[in-house]
Amino acid sequence: MYTEEVMDHFRNPRNVGEIENADGIGEVGNAQCGDIMKIYLKIDDDIITDVKFLTFGCGSAIASSSMATELIKGKSIDEAVELTNKAVVDALGGLPKVKVHCSVLAEQAVKAALHNYAEKTGKTIKGLEDFD
Ligand code: FES
Ligand code: FES
Repeated sequence: MYTEEVMDHFRNPRNVGEIENADGIGEVGNAQCGDIMKIYLKIDDDIITDVKFLTFGCGSAIASSSMATELIKGKSIDEAVELTNKAVVDALGGLPKVKVHCSVLAEQAVKAALHNYAEKTGKTIKGLEDFD
């Protein structure tokens, strides 16, 4: 039911934890399942130099957040804002249909953190218009 990649990121999640004095923090929750995901960003010169996450949720949510952090680490803001839940699912080699919403949570958490950064710094990040 779960791919090797999902199991790997569930058992050994990358970038778990918090960042003190993070430049952007995003927290999202899924009302249906009650799971919560929090993403912390460190941003220097529009580059995501560090990213960490805390997820209280199912294995797919943990694997999705782990993969999402890996996909945006070292990337520019403009690249990170384009991260889709589909990219996360693809990188994980697929998720069961009923678990796709867990990857949506990861996309939303990244966007929420970027949105928080934009609010703090007064910057405009293209691609977050729908997020306001
Ligand atoms: Fe129980 Fe997501 S519904 S962990
Ligand atoms: Fe809700 Fe996975 S079951 S995030």
